[in-house]
Amino acid sequence: MTVPALSIEDLRLTVRGPKSDANVLLGVDLEVGRGESVGLVGESGSGKSMTLRAITALAPPGSHVSGSIRVAGTDALAARGRALRRLRGREVGLIFQDPRSAINPTRRIGDFLLEASRDAGEDLAATRVRAVELLHGMGIADAERRMSQYPFELSGGLLQRIMIASVLLPRPTLILADEPTTALDVTTQSDVLLLTDDLRRAQGTAMVFVTHDLDLALAVCSQVAVMYAGMIVEIGPAQELRRQPRHPYTIGLLASRPPLDRRLSRIPAIPGIPLAAASFTSGCPFLARCPIRIERCQRELPALTPTAIGRARCHRSAEIASGSVSVDFSATGSAAALDDAQ
Ligand SMILES: Nc1ncnc2c1ncn2[C@@H]1O[C@H](COP(=O)(O)OP(=O)(O)O)[C@@H](O)[C@H]1O
Ligand SMILES: [Mg+2]
Repeated sequence: MTVPALSIEDLRLTVRGPKSDANVLLGVDLEVGRGESVGLVGESGSGKSMTLRAITALAPPGSHVSGSIRVAGTDALAARGRALRRLRGREVGLIFQDPRSAINPTRRIGDFLLEASRDAGEDLAATRVRAVELLHGMGIADAERRMSQYPFELSGGLLQRIMIASVLLPRPTLILADEPTTALDVTTQSDVLLLTDDLRRAQGTAMVFVTHDLDLALAVCSQVAVMYAGMIVEIGPAQELRRQPRHPYTIGLLASRPPLDRRLSRIPAIPGIPLAAASFTSGCPFLARCPIRIERCQRELPALTPTAIGRARCHRSAEIASGSVSVDFSATGSAAALDDAQ
């Protein structure tokens, strides 16, 4: 059996503050197979970025991290010094939202792309050929000319594609992309992501793609994990999850997507506001917004339990599956409806 690209078990993260500590991750479990892509989706503040940062030891200073993170079998939480540099430079590639923060403005694109290879004493001619191929793969037709240009001569969108090529260049085990295309317009976003996906798939690099956009994750990734309040509340293969969601939060996110083919006067949203992991005490974290909550949900945190297609953290997922209960957000959301659950 091959070792997964990424294996996270019961990841908990607490940020130490001047007055009190704040819980940020409350037990994240995630496995990403070799060459597989997983979308990590959820509203702002659900812990997506912190999960990625923990993988490469970039949690805020003073954070307390527990659980286990393995990248290609190696303990990432224990990595220090040279092992950590190898993890960040070779095993894991980070794709940032802002390429200008990652690319040295004073050096030509070609030098930027070949830098790591030069430092490692590798065959520069071979790396250069591969770099040009990757730029082509990212849809950059005049790659040779771009190699001799400086970052200020290029648009943000072009630099973003160059940065992605640079991250793929050392053939990492895993790339971590945190809202990498949010600064681009919507059609360019999915184009860039699909090109990235083709290239990383061809070389067997796995990917965790963080986004608040469920549609984008479903379009690009083979698996999608939905986060809420510092936990994964549902995970499954993208197409199956789209058709057979088993957690009310996933159902709500699917229902609140803007329609592609027709215009609605109002897009239905999930009523209420997201719960911060720091405010979670007991029971189900989605309780206050859930239209099908029952008394048990106030007392007992649901475990991430197998469903027909993946896993879900809901006491009623079997009833959702059988159709004996339906999840309708339009019927809830009033203050009165929330009062009786709390
Ligand atoms: N540097 C920090 N110090 C303290 N708390 C933080 C810090 N960064 C993020 N948080 C908190 O951690 C939680 C998760 O944040 P984050 O992972 O960035 O969410 P997401 O990426 O899903 O929007 C949020 O509630 C946020 O307020
Ligand atoms: Mg984030």
